[in-house]
Amino acid sequence: MKSIPYGRQNIDQKDIDAVINTLGADFLTQGPKVKEFEDKFADYIGSKYAVAVSNATAGLHISVLALGLKKGERVITTPITFAATANCVRYTGGEVWFADIDPNTFLLDIESVKQLIDSKPKGFFKGIIPVDFAGLPVNLEDFRELAEQHDLWVIEDACHAPGGYFIDSEENKQMCGNGNYADIGVFSFHPVKHIACGEGGMVTTNSLEVYNKLNLLRSHGITKDNMSENHGGWFYEMQELGFNYRLTDIQSAIGITQLVKNKVGVVERNRIADVYKNAFKGKIKYQDLPEGAFNAHHLFVIEVDDRKGLYDYLRACKVYAQIHYIPIHTLPYYKKIGYEDVDLTNAEHYYSKCISLPMYPTLTSKEQDFVIDKVLSYIS
Ligand SMILES: Cc1ncc(COP(=O)(O)O)c(C=O)c1O
Repeated sequence: MKSIPYGRQNIDQKDIDAVINTLGADFLTQGPKVKEFEDKFADYIGSKYAVAVSNATAGLHISVLALGLKKGERVITTPITFAATANCVRYTGGEVWFADIDPNTFLLDIESVKQLIDSKPKGFFKGIIPVDFAGLPVNLEDFRELAEQHDLWVIEDACHAPGGYFIDSEENKQMCGNGNYADIGVFSFHPVKHIACGEGGMVTTNSLEVYNKLNLLRSHGITKDNMSENHGGWFYEMQELGFNYRLTDIQSAIGITQLVKNKVGVVERNRIADVYKNAFKGKIKYQDLPEGAFNAHHLFVIEVDDRKGLYDYLRACKVYAQIHYIPIHTLPYYKKIGYEDVDLTNAEHYYSKCISLPMYPTLTSKEQDFVIDKVLSYIS
């Protein structure tokens, strides 16, 4: 058996042709493929606007800026996510406050968020960044209601969840990142994710004002629109201090072909998840699926007592399972800036047991059976 990673891109001839065709076209960057990718992505998830960016970290950065986050302002997020979810707040000089996770869904626990908000004076927090962890959609209707009560914005970190959805109280299907309940959604196109552009990301919103700000911030704050003066065709204005967070046409071209594949990819991921669940039911704990939710399954996470033992054993069998995630407040940078004594019981308990098994559409049944066999034989 060759080695089995926890996640893997699925590149076929269509992706390769798309890239090669773009290499021979007029624009390698700032051309038509970027807009085409943005339009197709927005259409897929049902948001009004989409802004392609160089990666999701950049996307999160311009998202907090577009919503006006300033130095010293405070944002709540989950400790069980990739560091970038919290780091975007730090880039602006903001403070990250962690609430605990739900022990069964592994998502940011809204009750813990409420407790945190209620323990502080009104206006203490500016926003919340829930994460559709592992691909499981957060119930954003609930987070929106809470946000309205406390005058907060919501950024949905949907990096794990293109194609995921939950059903709201009106029985409507709400695709992750569609902007109906969150102000902004952010996606990643790193190769372990559903859509692989090498590097890349997408920021989605339903607000024209936010969309315009995101566009400015992505490209140095430079624009030819709404200028206070105009000296001729060459003229532009730099209206904000922005960045170069652009996605190239080459990356957008592969993004478009990858997006098409994601429609079957998420179904395949769910089939693979069902095989794991059938094998582990009653023996091993895995992520709960709340009623009506469709997990996009970037990951398939289980909890086991001897996590390190299983991790080492699987590696010895050339199964490269992974740990998602080391709680952010325990990372040395965060400890150094004052999170040493933060106590998040559920997150820390989860971290002591979690391990992500191989999950990607091209995982074969033979490979998956091998993984299941090794996991079950280790724990028994
Ligand atoms: C939840 C989450 N947020 C943000 C990011 C950052 O994405 P990128 O690597 O595209 O910057 C990742 C990537 O691993 C992630 O998993």
